[in-house]
Amino acid sequence: MSHEPKTRPPEPVRFEPRGPLSGTLTPPADKSISHRAAIIGAIAEGPTRVLNFLDSDDTRSSLSAVANLGAMLNPEPRDFMPDEFTIEGVGPGGPRSLGRIDVGNAGTLMRLLPGWIAGYEGGLWRMNGDASIRKRPVDRIADPLRLMGAEIEVTDGRFPPIRIDGRRLHGIEYELPVASAQVKSCLLIAGLQAEGPTTVIEPLATRDHTEVMLEAAGAKIERGQGRVTVWPSPDLKLDEVEVPADISSAAFFMVAASIVPGSEVVLDRIGINPTRTGILSILERMGADIEVEPQAGGEPGQGGEPIGRITVRSAGLRGTSVEGAEVPLAIDELPLVALAACFAKGETVIADAEELKRKESDRIAVVVDALSGLGAEIEATADGMKINGTGMLRGGIVNSHGDHRIAMLGAIAGIASREGVGVVGMDASSVSYPGFESDLRRLS
Ligand code: S3P
Repeated sequence: MSHEPKTRPPEPVRFEPRGPLSGTLTPPADKSISHRAAIIGAIAEGPTRVLNFLDSDDTRSSLSAVANLGAMLNPEPRDFMPDEFTIEGVGPGGPRSLGRIDVGNAGTLMRLLPGWIAGYEGGLWRMNGDASIRKRPVDRIADPLRLMGAEIEVTDGRFPPIRIDGRRLHGIEYELPVASAQVKSCLLIAGLQAEGPTTVIEPLATRDHTEVMLEAAGAKIERGQGRVTVWPSPDLKLDEVEVPADISSAAFFMVAASIVPGSEVVLDRIGINPTRTGILSILERMGADIEVEPQAGGEPGQGGEPIGRITVRSAGLRGTSVEGAEVPLAIDELPLVALAACFAKGETVIADAEELKRKESDRIAVVVDALSGLGAEIEATADGMKINGTGMLRGGIVNSHGDHRIAMLGAIAGIASREGVGVVGMDASSVSYPGFESDLRRLS
C-alpha cells in the first residue's frame, strides 16, 4: 500500500450556458508590451514611467528578473501592481551578475532576456522556469546568439535550463528560420551593445512591439521590407510607456460575443497594432460583426502603440482558411479561431501553424483534444487543424494542461455550449489574465 499523501485533483470550474453577453470591458494590459517595458526599461538609463503594466504571473516574473539584475522599481509592486511605477534602468553599465533567473511560465522572458545579458563580459547567469518552459525550445535564440559571439549552454541541445557566460558580441545578419517575434526581439536587443550593425530578416511579419519601443527609446534602428537593422545604441532613454489592453485577452470576448446569440460587447482601449490584429480580419472574413474605432493615445511618448475601441455583436459565422502571412498575426488567437469555427457553417482550415506545438502546451493536440471532447468535429493536421462547423458544442470537460489560453478557451466554450463545460486547471488563466472569470461573469 502506498503511504504517499493523497492529493485530489482540483474540482473543475464550471461554465454554464448563458444568455447574451453585454457591456463594456477594458481587459488587462498587453503581456508582450509589458514584458518589453520591463526589459527595455531596465536596459535604458534613468527612469521610465510605466503606466498600466500587466499584473499577471508572467509579467511579474519579468519585473523580478530585471530587479534582480539591478533595475530599481519605484514603488515596488507587492500584493498589487501600482497604476504607475518607474523602472530605474541600469544603463550602459549593464546588468548585475547574478546566479539564477527564474522565468516561471514566461516564454517571452526566456527568449528576450538572454539578448540583453549575453553581451556583458564577466557576468554568469543560469535561466530556468517551470515544467512547461523546460519543454520549449531555446536553441532558436542560442544558435544566432552564438553566431554573435555569445557563450550559451542549453540542455539536451535545445531546452532550458540555459547557462549564459557574458561575452562581447558582434553584429550579424540573420534570417529567421521560423517567424518568431521573440527570436527577432532577442537579437535586436543583443544588437544594442554588439559591435557593428545587427540585421534580422523575417520570412513573415511578426509583432513589432520591440522595434516600436526601441525607436521610442532612441535606438538607431531601420526597418523595411522584412528586414530590421539595429546599430549599437548604448544609451537608451525610455521616458514613458503606457501599455494598452491586450488584444489577445480581448479576443476571448470577441469570440464569445460572436457565438452567443444576442450579444453586444464593447472592448475599450485595446492595442490594435496591425501586427496583432489578425484575429479581427479572420473573424470578419467568417462573417463576424465587428467595428473598430481608433482612440486617442499611443503617441511616441507613450510607447507609440495604436489603441482602439472594438464593438462585437453576435452574427452567423462561416468557415474560412487561415494560412501563410496571417498566421503570425494571430498566432495566440488560433485556438479561438478553432472554437469560433465549431459554431460556423462549413469547414475551417488552419495551416502553416506548426509553431502552435511549441507554445505553453502543444496547442494543436490540446485544442483538438479539448474541442473534440466537447462534441466538435475537429482533426489535427501536420501544421494545424481542420474543423467542420456544426453550429454548436455539446459540452463536457476541458483540461487546460496548465496553459492559460486553453483554460480561457474552455470557459468561453462552456458559456456557448448546450450543457456547459468544466475546466480542469482554470487557475492557469492568471498567467495572462488574473481577473478573467469575474470579467466574464460581469459581461454575462
Ligand atoms: C510573443 C511572440 C509569440 C507569441 C507569444 C508572445 C512575444 O511567440 O506566441 O505569446 O511577445 O514576442 P513566438 O515569437 O514564439 O512566435
